[in-house]
Amino acid sequence: MTKKQVQESYNNYVMNTYKRNDVAIKSGKASRAQGVDGEGYIDFTSGIGVNALGFCDEEWANAIAEQAKLLNHTSNLYYIEPCAQLAEGLSKVTGLGKTFFCNSGAEANEGAIKVARKRSFDKYGKGRGRIITLQNSFHGRTITTLAATGQEVFHNYFFPFTEGFSFAEANNIESMKSLLGDDVCGVLIELVQGEGGVVPLNKDYVQAVKALCREHDLAFMIDEVQTGIGRTGSFFAYEQFDVKPDVVTFAKGIGGGLPLGGFIANEEYSNVLGPSDHGTTFGANPIVCAGAVVVLNRVAKQEFLTEVKHKGEYIKERLLKLPHVKSVSGLGMMIGIELGCKATAAELSQKCHENGLMILTAKAKLRMLPPLTISYAEIDEGLKILEAVLTNAQ
Ligand SMILES: Cc1ncc(COP(=O)(O)O)c(C=O)c1O
Repeated sequence: MTKKQVQESYNNYVMNTYKRNDVAIKSGKASRAQGVDGEGYIDFTSGIGVNALGFCDEEWANAIAEQAKLLNHTSNLYYIEPCAQLAEGLSKVTGLGKTFFCNSGAEANEGAIKVARKRSFDKYGKGRGRIITLQNSFHGRTITTLAATGQEVFHNYFFPFTEGFSFAEANNIESMKSLLGDDVCGVLIELVQGEGGVVPLNKDYVQAVKALCREHDLAFMIDEVQTGIGRTGSFFAYEQFDVKPDVVTFAKGIGGGLPLGGFIANEEYSNVLGPSDHGTTFGANPIVCAGAVVVLNRVAKQEFLTEVKHKGEYIKERLLKLPHVKSVSGLGMMIGIELGCKATAAELSQKCHENGLMILTAKAKLRMLPPLTISYAEIDEGLKILEAVLTNAQ
């Protein structure tokens, strides 16, 4: 199919829920993609922080191909080796306890919310189910995770939303204190607000939130759907904030390009959910887990993570020298670019795509989430395209 034919099919048969770039991708390898009409792209998006090892990593592709020939799916009514390997690996890497596997970030956060509420119910009984999240957060697109998302723009149309969420101002501990009450069971925060514009929290603040959770016996939950799996230069970003959560949620990068999410709990929270309390048909699918084991084994290595940090610093340094770049935010290879020109981030992103660079936006910023394995040469090549676009911008 040509790009035009693909686009026509989308217009006729795919629901119109995304503002898509004028690009139809046919194939990809590492940090390069090729369009259906043969044009090439450097990838600064990794499928919105998903392709941790880039497009079609050979070891990952072989692992899922082999698993697809061995066993595709069984349901969670059976014991499956790749799931066992992955859960054990995650526990060893984090020092936390047990994992529940699902398929997406929203589903991971839904599950964590259930854990916090059930743990509170078991210990204190009814009436203690409220969860404090942060203003400007993003936790997903289901009715409950939209309700948990601290942005009014997401609280529209789909009424009634799940009740029991309130929103504290980020980096202001007094704001969170003012929202406490006998009905609160937990706190859920991102450490770098990705969709909110790549805004990192302060370390002191995060530690104060944890202390508050301990003081009031609240579940301290961290949403690492975007920041997790090496993205910020540590396996989970919380390591750089010197805190450990009761429950951490993850998705995106762990599957390396296949749908996988989940949450890992510490010892106390690991046994809150029992048989029939929670479940999902596809969670921990053998093929997806076989690929995720490859991702975990590659990413959870100190040299790999240090390299992510170095590449992130290299990119930031280079970005700050480009025209119209006012500031650069983020951690590791999760990067937001504040612009000082008339052209909007969406317009600049469009120009980048026209010139062979896949890039993202977050609110008014350009956003970069390159594959963690991107080479310095590919970074330079992509930044050259961005520089030319910014140079020509008004
Ligand atoms: C921090 C955070 N939480 C949750 C989600 C939702 O993840 P998913 O789209 O996999 O449901 C996202 C997606 O961007 C996210 O960035």
